[in-house]
Amino acid sequence: MLHELGIAAALGLRWLHWIAVAAALYGVLRTAAAIWQGRAWAGSDAKTRLRPRTQASLRWLVGGAWLALGCAVAWPVVYAASVSGPQPPGVWASMALAAQGWFPSWSELGQWHPAWVSSWRPDAGVPPGSRALARGEQAAAWLGAAYLAGAGVVFARQASWRLAAAMVVVACLLLAPGTPRPELVLAPATPHTFRQPPTDFDAGRILAGARHYQQLCASCHGAKGRGDGPLAARQPRWPSVLGPALFEHRHAGDLHWSVRQGLGNGTEGKAGASHAYGAALSSQEAWNVLDYLRAGAAGAELADHPGWRQALPAPDMALRCARLPQVQRLRDLRGQRVRIHAAHAGTPPVMPDPRLIDVVLRPGDPLHGPPGSDVGWADCGVPDAVSAAAWQAYAWVAGREAAQLDGAQFLVDRGGWLRAYQAPGDTLAWSAPDTMCEPGEIAPDQRTGEGLSDTLQRIDAQPVRPPLFRARS
Ligand code: HEC
Repeated sequence: MLHELGIAAALGLRWLHWIAVAAALYGVLRTAAAIWQGRAWAGSDAKTRLRPRTQASLRWLVGGAWLALGCAVAWPVVYAASVSGPQPPGVWASMALAAQGWFPSWSELGQWHPAWVSSWRPDAGVPPGSRALARGEQAAAWLGAAYLAGAGVVFARQASWRLAAAMVVVACLLLAPGTPRPELVLAPATPHTFRQPPTDFDAGRILAGARHYQQLCASCHGAKGRGDGPLAARQPRWPSVLGPALFEHRHAGDLHWSVRQGLGNGTEGKAGASHAYGAALSSQEAWNVLDYLRAGAAGAELADHPGWRQALPAPDMALRCARLPQVQRLRDLRGQRVRIHAAHAGTPPVMPDPRLIDVVLRPGDPLHGPPGSDVGWADCGVPDAVSAAAWQAYAWVAGREAAQLDGAQFLVDRGGWLRAYQAPGDTLAWSAPDTMCEPGEIAPDQRTGEGLSDTLQRIDAQPVRPPLFRARS
C-alpha cells in the first residue's frame, strides 16, 4: 500500500514538474511580449520601475523554474524510497545530489512504473557511516535550506524580504560542503535497474533461454558462461564470466539492459553499444536468457559451496495434483512447503510427509507413462509436455548433468524459494551438514542439520528477503 502511494506521489511530482516548466515558459513569453511591446517598464528615465504586470510575469518565470527544479530532484528520491524502503539518509541525500539527467521525458509520463532516470542508484556496499555519505548529507541539508529560502525570493511581496531571502540562499550555498563524487556513494544505474523479471523463473522459459544463449552469446561468453568462447580473445575487452558474482552485484534489470541496450550507462566509460542484442532478442527472450544464466550460476555456486548464497526461486512448472485440483503450477503452492524429487520410474518412493507437499519430477521419457500412474505416493506430478524442461532446469540449478539428477531432492519454502538440496545418493536424509542452502553466509558450526524437522524449522524461521539494493562489489 505504502509502495503504491509512494509511486503515485512520485508520478504526481513528475507531472507537477512539467506543469512548473509550462508555468516558467508562460512567464518567459509574457515577459518577452511586454518587452517587445515596450510596456515592461513604467517609465523611461533612470528611475524606471517594472510594471506590476511585468513583475507578475517574472514571478511566473522564477516560480515555475524553482518548482520544476524541486520536483526534478524530489521525484526520483520519492520513487526510489517507494521501491526500496528505508535507507540511511545519506543515500537519499546522494541520490538527490546526483540529479543529473533526471528530467523525465514526455513518453514516460503516462507509465505507471516509470523508468529509472538517474545514472546512479544506492549502493548497499557503502557503509552507512562513511565519510562520503556524511558529506553528502551535509551538502544536501545546506542545498535543501537554500532551496527553501529560495521560496522567499520567489514569493515574498516586499523587496526587503526578498533581499533577505536571497542573502540566506547565498549564505547556504557558501556554507554547503562540496558534494561527494557520485561513484563514492552510489552505483551506476540504467533505466531498467528496478525492473523485475516477469518470468517467474519458469522452467520452460529457462530452456528457451538456453537455446538463445547458445545461438547468440556462447561464441564470446562460452558454452557455460565462463567467458571462454571462441571469439573471446578477439574482443576489445574480455567477455564477462556470467556466473554467481555477476548476479550478486548486478540488479536483474541492469543485466537486462546490458543484453538488449548495450553495456553500462556511460558513467564507467564502457563503449557498450555494440553489445545491444535488442534486435535479436525480444524483452521476454532476454529475460529467458538471464533466467537460464541465473540457473547455471546457481549450479556453479553449489559446486564449490555447500549452499546457494543468493536467494533463488524454485523453477516454476505446470503440475498435476490428484488431490489438489485447483493447483495448476508450482507457484500455486506458495504458502506450503514443497519437496521436489527427481526420480526415474524405478526409483523407490520416499515416505510421504504430512508437513510437505511432495512433487515428483520425471525425466520426460514417454516410456514411463503419464505422471501420476506410478507416483501414487506423491501429491503432484509434472505433465509429460513439460517434464523434460523441468528436469533440465532443476539439473542446472543443482549444477549436475541431467542424466545424474536421479534421486536428488529439493526443499521449497513457503515463499517459493529453493532452500535445501540433497544430492542423489545422499542416504543421510537431510542430516548431512552440506544439504542446507541458505542465502547469506552460514557459519560452519551452525550447519548442524539434524534431519528434516530441524531443516524445516530453520527454513521457516529465516524467510528469504532478497536485497533491495545490491552492493556493487
Ligand atoms: C561479440 C562478443 C559478445 C557476444 C556475442 C555477447 N557478449 Fe556479452 N559481453 C561481451 C563483452 C566484451 C562484455 C564486457 C566485459 C567488460 O566490460 O568487462 C560482455 C558483458 C556482458 C554482461 C555483463 C554486463 C555487466 O553488467 O557487467 C552480460 C550480462 C552479457 N555480456 C550478456 C550477454 C548475453 C546474454 C549475450 C547474448 C545475447 C551476450 N552477452 C553476447 C561480449 C559479448
